[in-house]
Amino acid sequence: MCGIIGRVGTGDAIDTLLTGLENLEYRGYDSAGVAVQNGAGIKVQKRSGKVSELKNKIDASVLEGQVGIGHTRWSTHGPPTDANAHPHTDSTTDVAVVHNGIIENYIELKEQLAAAGHEFTSDTDTEVIPHLVQHYLDQGWDSERAFRTAIDELQGSYAVAVMISGEHVIYAARRGSPLVIGMEDNEFFLASDIPAFLEETNDVIYLEDGDVVVLEPEGYRITDLEGTPVSRETDTVDWDPEDAGKGEYDHYMRKEIHSQPTSLANTIEGRVADGEVDLEEFPAGAFADVDAVQFVACGTSYHAAMYGEWLLREANVRTAVHRASEYDSSVGPIDEHTLVVAVTQSGETADTLAAVREAKARGARTVAVTNVVGSTAAREADDALYIRAGPEIGVAATKTFSSQSVTLALLTQRIAADIPDAAPIDDLDAMLESLSDLPDQVESVVETSRAGELAERYLESRAFFFIGRGLGHAVALEGALKFKEITYEHAEGFTAGELKHGPLALVTEETPVFSVFTGGGDEAVQTNATEAQSRGAPIVTVAPDDHQAVGTGDAHLSIPDTHPVWAGLLANVQLQLLSYHAANELGRPIDKPRNLAKSVTVE
Ligand code: AGP
Repeated sequence: MCGIIGRVGTGDAIDTLLTGLENLEYRGYDSAGVAVQNGAGIKVQKRSGKVSELKNKIDASVLEGQVGIGHTRWSTHGPPTDANAHPHTDSTTDVAVVHNGIIENYIELKEQLAAAGHEFTSDTDTEVIPHLVQHYLDQGWDSERAFRTAIDELQGSYAVAVMISGEHVIYAARRGSPLVIGMEDNEFFLASDIPAFLEETNDVIYLEDGDVVVLEPEGYRITDLEGTPVSRETDTVDWDPEDAGKGEYDHYMRKEIHSQPTSLANTIEGRVADGEVDLEEFPAGAFADVDAVQFVACGTSYHAAMYGEWLLREANVRTAVHRASEYDSSVGPIDEHTLVVAVTQSGETADTLAAVREAKARGARTVAVTNVVGSTAAREADDALYIRAGPEIGVAATKTFSSQSVTLALLTQRIAADIPDAAPIDDLDAMLESLSDLPDQVESVVETSRAGELAERYLESRAFFFIGRGLGHAVALEGALKFKEITYEHAEGFTAGELKHGPLALVTEETPVFSVFTGGGDEAVQTNATEAQSRGAPIVTVAPDDHQAVGTGDAHLSIPDTHPVWAGLLANVQLQLLSYHAANELGRPIDKPRNLAKSVTVE
């Protein structure tokens, strides 16, 4: 997820662009840049690092001009270097582009353009766009036609803004990534999100997929890709600028829970083809010499790693999952045929980094599954696989758990396909087919959840227990972690069968038990839940409405029917919302819970 902004109007654009980028940094902050034009050609200044670093380095005297575009980046392709920062230009700097999204066919386009003599200077997918526009300009086409034709060749997702030298115009289009117009007297804006220009105007237009915009000092034109005019409503937002990054949400955590349909779609995009897992980082045979796989992680990432370990074990691969803080004493025998997968959202967790170094010192091959391109884990591991969830601001991990689990599920099937005597899951095609429905199903859970009611009903409870089996065990642990870290109330997750071996002594009518049903081992989970219920505990079933357990408990949180591999992720969204609402009822500082940090960079 990145932030883009464009501005046309009277007076210099640079200050408005930089302020706008600062207000968009919640969307990405590993590099930033601006391009301005003033009739004497396009001037670009960009660098890795935050917008504040760009501001300190920028030579404002060079960047005079009334039309400009800007970008703050969350890398998905290419590390956050100066060269990979946006705006990107063609070789002549006649065309400048900022982009949010993923161009799936960029390799093919890049090859075609390079064969036609275009020279590229970055690792990004975005850089093909200015070269494509220039390609059509070189054929004598007018700017708007060149822009439309170039956009029409892109596959994947984009919110894109383009400037062409000598024109006081910004051309823009969106498909799969957000783009809004802001309107003030004699000043018009384009941006990924309203915060970019909220200090200038509250009048906005939400663009839709397929919309193309031509923004000029006199106003704007909205059409479809063929040029047919499109009418869009103007809206007036009443947000307070300092809360802008959260949009209409009270907390980043709520915004991030609700953004999972989008973040999951980005995670999945381009990684499933013809009923197979297709990871460009790991082509067929990449794991042929692997004979054992270890996962190592902390906290929520450990629970996602449990997903990967369970799936690999099902594929008959020797595997184990380790808590990173215990790794040096639990690593066991490993060698060059051992693959150690470090799962870390931030890529900076000290315990996990120490485990990667330990694994490498023992000769193992390492892969970092992370959300941050260019993070320490991504750089130190032999390979990196990005979850592409976009920046997560809330300390409590939410969207990154679902993106980690999906990424790991895909990685495990790729690994299993390479290892002799191992085999991907029997119904891989059904698993991947249902994966394509997951973002929409998460949307429906978010929209219809009754977790808020249950949070209120059980708010005075003495403790909160979460149980599940198999993949449901990982979800039970994650549900408990989420609950305790933002409500500060006692919450604990168990594999359901363990209750009777001790924890049942804690069970009373004041300890609701949230029972996660994922389609694997559910009869046993139901038996274990009944054991708790017979001792007075309220039972909350987390399952599809037609599940045999529904109605046997005291309350129910509904999830859509899906493949057993994904059911736990839908259940987890209900538990995320339960924790959020309980913490909100308790008045907790949800995005910044006491004693915790978003990235634990100390051991
Ligand atoms: C989860 O909500 C916490 N923020 C914490 O457990 C976190 O998952 C853990 O510190 C690992 O962080 P990482 O994924 O960045 O390595």
